[in-house]
Amino acid sequence: MSSKQHETIYLEDYQPPAWLISHTELRFELEEEQTLVRAQLRIQANPAVADKRKPLELFGDEGMELSRLCIDGQILEASDYQREAGCLRINNVPESFTLECVTRLLPHENTALEGLYKSDGMFCTQCEAEGFRRITFFPDRPDVMSIFRTTLVADKARYPVLLSNGNPVDTGEDGEGRHWVTWDDPWPKPSYLFALVAGDLALLEDHYTTTSGREVALRIYAERKDLDKLDYAMQSLKNAMRWDEEVYGREYDLDIYMIVAVDFFNMGAMENKGLNIFNTSCVLAHPRTTTDQGFQRVEGVVAHEYFHNWSGNRVTCRDWFQLSLKEGFTVFRDAEFSADMNSRTVKRIEDVTLLRTAQFAEDAGPMAHPVRPESYMEISNFYTLTVYEKGAEVVRMLHTLLGAELFRKGSDLYFERHDGQAVTTDDFVAAMEQVSGRDLSQFKRWYSQAGTPRLQVHDDYDPQSGEYCLTVRQSCPPSPGQDHKQPYQLPLSVGLLAEDGTELYTGMLELTEEEQQFRFDNIARRPVPSLLRGFSAPVKLEYDYTDEQLLMLLRHDSDGFNRWDAGQRLCIRLLQEQMLRYRDGLAMSCSEALVIAWRQLLTDESLDPAMVAQCLRLPSEAQLGELAERIDVTAIHEAREFMRKALAQALEQEWLQAYQRCDTGDDYTADAEAIGRRSLKNLALSYLMAAGREPWLELARQQYEQSDNMTDQLAALTLVAHSEFRETADELLQAFYQQWQHESLVMNQWLAVQASDPTEGALQRVNSLAQHPVFDARNPNKLRSLIGAFCGQNLASFHAEDGSGYVWLADWILTLDRQNPQVASRLLTPLTRWKRYDQGRAAQMQAQLQRMMDTAELSADVYEVVSKSLV
Ligand code: PHE
Ligand code: ZN
Repeated sequence: MSSKQHETIYLEDYQPPAWLISHTELRFELEEEQTLVRAQLRIQANPAVADKRKPLELFGDEGMELSRLCIDGQILEASDYQREAGCLRINNVPESFTLECVTRLLPHENTALEGLYKSDGMFCTQCEAEGFRRITFFPDRPDVMSIFRTTLVADKARYPVLLSNGNPVDTGEDGEGRHWVTWDDPWPKPSYLFALVAGDLALLEDHYTTTSGREVALRIYAERKDLDKLDYAMQSLKNAMRWDEEVYGREYDLDIYMIVAVDFFNMGAMENKGLNIFNTSCVLAHPRTTTDQGFQRVEGVVAHEYFHNWSGNRVTCRDWFQLSLKEGFTVFRDAEFSADMNSRTVKRIEDVTLLRTAQFAEDAGPMAHPVRPESYMEISNFYTLTVYEKGAEVVRMLHTLLGAELFRKGSDLYFERHDGQAVTTDDFVAAMEQVSGRDLSQFKRWYSQAGTPRLQVHDDYDPQSGEYCLTVRQSCPPSPGQDHKQPYQLPLSVGLLAEDGTELYTGMLELTEEEQQFRFDNIARRPVPSLLRGFSAPVKLEYDYTDEQLLMLLRHDSDGFNRWDAGQRLCIRLLQEQMLRYRDGLAMSCSEALVIAWRQLLTDESLDPAMVAQCLRLPSEAQLGELAERIDVTAIHEAREFMRKALAQALEQEWLQAYQRCDTGDDYTADAEAIGRRSLKNLALSYLMAAGREPWLELARQQYEQSDNMTDQLAALTLVAHSEFRETADELLQAFYQQWQHESLVMNQWLAVQASDPTEGALQRVNSLAQHPVFDARNPNKLRSLIGAFCGQNLASFHAEDGSGYVWLADWILTLDRQNPQVASRLLTPLTRWKRYDQGRAAQMQAQLQRMMDTAELSADVYEVVSKSLV
């Protein structure tokens, strides 16, 4: 934690580094009470920077102990250098020299999980974004790339496995039971991609031959008890390697590719060169302990980190404002990979749902920022849905505007031109401009303007001339520091349908103006427009559809995404009507037309069960909140529960038939088809449970007891645990605990199920869970399962009118901030949205933010979020 005033860093202040480091040699003496790090840096003045007499400035965490500092073998006196606020300054250094620096670290006391720390007895590192400066003094910025050679020394019995980036080149014994291994990484890399691991780890090994014939050893390491949960990650890795060769022409470039699973990790996973470190939740998978969602996350994240080897490592970011250069592009790549491995439409629906729910909310909140932010206090706060998911949408739009072939040419040029460099999002777009001959300067506003654009569409039809005209107006609401937005360039994918569903026109319109008209000739009847097909741009689209038009699109649209979206629009409209009625004290009702449409979907056995399940899922409370002017938590909850129950009862027989149809009794597989069948089966069970009758409780219990996989078991448990059948709920929760208490990841689910239970007494339940032995406040996964699930998914309980949820969260944040600022800052998000709620709630949320603000010694992470939220 830093006591200095937290300062703001600006993109416009970027300066190239004055000093370059060609080679970095590191030696780690890993011991139980301390670790000594000797770093030898070969330093040269940057020839591209004119002022050669600049002092050498290295970053280094304030708490880090410096025990030796030499230049070309000469020990420096205390008067030769200054240390202040995270920086080490050495005056009067030669043009080119070797700096030796020894630091002493206390990894076992590192609870922030940045730099070198211990996770369940093993040593590991996390350096992105600025963790390397907690290991040694270094120009810890991504545009300083260096060749690393790393030696690890440790007790051989406790830490038989010693890993770092690149290839092992030498090894030996040191006496007293200690051994050492030296690793050499031939590819220059920024310090944020450095990693080491030391532990007693089990290994799954396989191999892969690249197209050009390079043999690559694939090694996935985990604790011994988890060795049986690594096969799926291995298969996913091989699929990703093949896919990147086929789709992007990218091959792997080292002899070894390693993944290590660790239980204590702030994020999902990290793409360190040749040595990925993964949160166990993103790599371990076994049918008995992992849900379908978990399997798909493993596949997606393994691919994501692998793809970073090119989009991130070989070509990296010039500075952290360019984060989306690697993250947006890599998310786009992993989404396309998952779409190719599974169902394209379902993947798109899932991604857009996340974007609409969480990214749109971020874009409308106090932390809103462009895909390429202009300033930050703490860069860790900018690993956001905007940089990742909206950034991926921006790359997707380039793909749509240019077409697959030109896009591939552009990416080839980008990789070739910038291999080994640290570059900017402008460089990425420039490559796309060059291959397409297009001017993309207006398009680049997607990188510089924050906020979610709004498209308002009107249409006109002249039966005389057969001319149909679409008028599209775009606008974008103000965001912090940006009052006025310029119009965007965007692809608007459109279909025109006749009333019977026949397609009259299909194509892509390109928007550039604030208002534009598009004319279509020879249209015999007024068509129904299918707009923004496949969600061709990350915008909010408004068009005044009638219920009948939406029902027609739900039935006939040839674009699967828009078929689903039409159903969602209709549900949202009906739910919003019920919310109003609830507020006015009127009886709520469910539309008969919706029941009929759902019945049709539910009984048509020719449809893909995965798509049917998507269509019959009501939008979440969080998404309904995002759409509301003022969020009325209770009305949203009550209206949604009412609709769920009404649709459950009206279609009870159909739900049961769908359940039985999908309950095939086949052995578990994690392919898209089987996952789709299970998703419809468990959705059907959830509606049966919502119907609230005893036989369905028995059905759920039966599924709980007989299922051989976590997807079905957890689905049944969740439904019972969130029902009014409290006795059975307690019984199953207890049984589940007994069965799985030694599986940490399963216990995370157990915590989350209870934390998201909306029935009476939720706060008491989470409070007692926080005392439970399976809970560990130092483990970020456990914190997310308990605090994250309560505040993010149990909305009615978190937003209890007495403000108790807010006080509870603020208490947690203040405690966690001293221990792990990154995690504290992330868990804080729900409070930052206070302005969207009714006065009573808003005031109480604001009071908790103010209480945090008044606390001395906040971390930069939490300080930035709290102070910006209070503006
Ligand atoms: N770069 C990682 C990824 O997206 C995310 C990450 C960021 C992990 C910071 C750890 C710390 O793949
Ligand atoms: Zn990433």
